[in-house]
Amino acid sequence: MSRLAAGVVLVTAHEPPLTEDGPRGEDVGMTATAFMSVSLDPPLVLVSLREGSRMDDLLAEQPVWAVSVLAEGQRQVAGRFSMKGRISDRLLFDDLPWSRGEVSGAPLLDGALATLECRTEFRTEAGDHTLVVGRVLSASVPVSDGRPLTYFKGGYRHLSA
Ligand SMILES: Cc1cc2nc3c(=O)[nH]c(=O)nc-3n(C[C@H](O)[C@H](O)[C@H](O)COP(=O)(O)O)c2cc1C
Repeated sequence: MSRLAAGVVLVTAHEPPLTEDGPRGEDVGMTATAFMSVSLDPPLVLVSLREGSRMDDLLAEQPVWAVSVLAEGQRQVAGRFSMKGRISDRLLFDDLPWSRGEVSGAPLLDGALATLECRTEFRTEAGDHTLVVGRVLSASVPVSDGRPLTYFKGGYRHLSA
């Protein structure tokens, strides 16, 4: 599968606060390539999450989430949101330009080729991953003309012209 060139996305969601009067909830992000379009009518997408990963645990509780399709200049974003064993993502969003999605409350990256906000339709276990199928609730194109970040044979790549 390393020979299948893939686009790279950042999946994001807002972790609700533990109590209503507790500290604000945290924003969480995860770099993913196992993301695809499933259906046009209704508009459905799918992301495959490693079982037990922070995003898998979060989306078991949080039905709304978002996807930012990364542009070639966002390689550092992909790197920081794929680090293993990190405890908190709070600081990772601090120096990034982003806005909060109106429908999902999840971070949407400025400079992404496209952003989607989704609501989970269903989840199913598949081996050591969870397939999460989401209905697209909103879509936007922050950057009209950009090139994608891609991943191929274990490395980030750029499309040549
Ligand atoms: C290029 C790239 C693509 C990835 N794609 C996925 C993916 O599709 N699904 C997934 O669960 N993890 C994927 N990962 C791994 C997660 O980004 C990584 O496991 C996660 O951010 C670390 O958090 P965790 O400790 O909770 O797993 C990918 C990593 C990289 C570098």
